Order: sequence, then C-alpha cells, then structure tokens
Amino acid sequence: MKITVVGPGALGCLIAAHLKNKTKEEIWLLDEFADRARKISLDGVRLEGPGGPFTVKMNATANAKDIGISDLVIICVKSYSTDDACKGIKDIVSEKTGILTLQNGIGNVQILNDHFGPDRVIAGVTNHGSTYMGTGHVRHAGKGDTTIGKADGRVLGAIREVAGVLTKAGFETKVSRDIDSVVWSKLIVNTGINALTAITCLNNGALLEHEGCRQIMRSAVQEAVKVVKRKRIKLMYDDPIQKVESVCRATSSNVSSMLQDILSNNKTEIDFINGAIVRQAKALNIPTPVNEVLTSLVKTIEESCKARVREK
Ligand code: PAF
Repeated sequence: MKITVVGPGALGCLIAAHLKNKTKEEIWLLDEFADRARKISLDGVRLEGPGGPFTVKMNATANAKDIGISDLVIICVKSYSTDDACKGIKDIVSEKTGILTLQNGIGNVQILNDHFGPDRVIAGVTNHGSTYMGTGHVRHAGKGDTTIGKADGRVLGAIREVAGVLTKAGFETKVSRDIDSVVWSKLIVNTGINALTAITCLNNGALLEHEGCRQIMRSAVQEAVKVVKRKRIKLMYDDPIQKVESVCRATSSNVSSMLQDILSNNKTEIDFINGAIVRQAKALNIPTPVNEVLTSLVKTIEESCKARVREK
C-alpha cells in the first residue's frame, strides 16, 4: 500500500514515523513547504517517548507529483488548512484512494466530501497525544485509542484494511458504525479543555485546580451537550462533565494542542471546536454565551500574539 500522510506537524510525523518503522508499506510525508520537506527527507523524523528516542528515515516532499497515486491519504493538517490540503492532494488521489481525516474538531469531513465525494472519505479520531518539538521532531506524549468509520455507517473491507495497517503501526484502531458519535464525543472534550488552556496558559490538569475555571469548563460543556441532544447524537459516555474532568486528570501534564499553537504564535483550531459549537447552536436557536466568549478570547489572543511578533 502507498500511504501519504499530509502535514508534518506533531500527529503527522508521529503517524508517518510509526507506519514507516512498523509496517512494510511505502510511506510519504507531504508538506506545503519545500525547505521543511527537504530537511525531513535528509534528517528523517525524530521521535521521543515510549521506545525512543529514535530517528526514522522518511520520504518527504512538497511536490505531490513526486509521490504519485496513493492508496491511502491521511490528513493531519490543522483544520483551517483542510481546504488547501485538498487542493494539494489532487495529483495523488484516484477513484480508489481512501482519504482519512484524523484532525481535531468538526467540519473536516464536510470539506473533504465537497472536494472528493463521500465514497472515498473516512472520518476518524485519535486520542494519541503528540507534542511538536521542531521540524521533523515530535514527542509521543501519551497513547490512546483510534477509531475510524464512514459517515453513512458502512463497514467496508477497505476500512478494515486501513484499521489493520494503523493497528500494525501501533495505533490500536477500531471501526465504528457511528463515527459521528465518536467525533462529537471528542469534540465535547476539546470544547471543555482547549480554549481554557489557551486563555489561561495552564496544563490540562491545572484547569481543575481553579474553581472559576472549572465552572466555565462545565458551562461550555453544558452548552455543547444541548447541541448534541438537539442533533440526536449519542455520546460515548453518560456524564460529559465527568468525562472532560477525567481527561484533564489523565492528561494532567499535557500542554493542549491549542495552547501549543498559542505558545508558538500559530493560528488555533478554535473555529472548528468552540467556534463550531457556536455556529451549530445558532442554526438550532440554542444560546451559547460561554462558548462565544471563549472563541472571541482565543481569537483576540491569536491576534495580539501575531501583532507582538510583527512589532519585534
Ligand atoms: O487537543 C488536545 O490537546 C487533546 O485533544 C486533549 C485531549 C485536550 C489533550 O491535550
């Protein structure tokens, strides 16, 4: 199988390196920047964490034509870059290519469907923690499960094959007939944690140590759950607040992906997490004042960090 991982960020490098290391498949990393791709193809991907540190040789390029048609494309770019990534993979996608998104938030499947049609698109969620340390250098911050599935619930042989290859690479992967439930169950967790960590600069666990912060988390989650109920989506857990708090404890020393973005002066995925809750709620006439404030604050912090970098 020829597998292309799109986006050499923390998750993209982690997945590409383990696929290369533990399977016999042909693995490529597709980047938007030629100089970064060149560095990765020269130096490989350096992994820290369980079993590491070690370096894996990697085929990396910014020119999709170098890769050719792939059997599987795994989208690992930040959600705000999905549309650009779709334009960048036209030369490696055929009628038979599976296109899997393992990105945070909601909205990515729709963007992929708009470009390629739903038949080729596979939705997915992974709970592996990864921290970006620099070009081609990541730390595996914690193991988690991975679930993939078709939006229409069909379990095809091709999906089982994708789950099999990910599992072989060390990403224990299940196939779900209700992938919406899996995606929204993760979204609720990210809604409660990510924006608050980005605003307060706290690690996930520390959010629970401040009563005011904990209260805001509960309110943001309660608003999101109203949307879930109205959309008749079944969550994978009974008590969403307890679930978010338990993820805070289980990942207590994690710097969330959104706080990592703020600390590196990068755009965040707020529009695909709390911002997505606000948009979905508006269409259903559900008020979401807490998620609106969280979204506006994160956008303000993004803008002020960018302005400070420009002034330097
Ligand atoms: O986005 C993240 O950082 C992760 O999804 C989570 C679960 C909040 C842990 O840090």
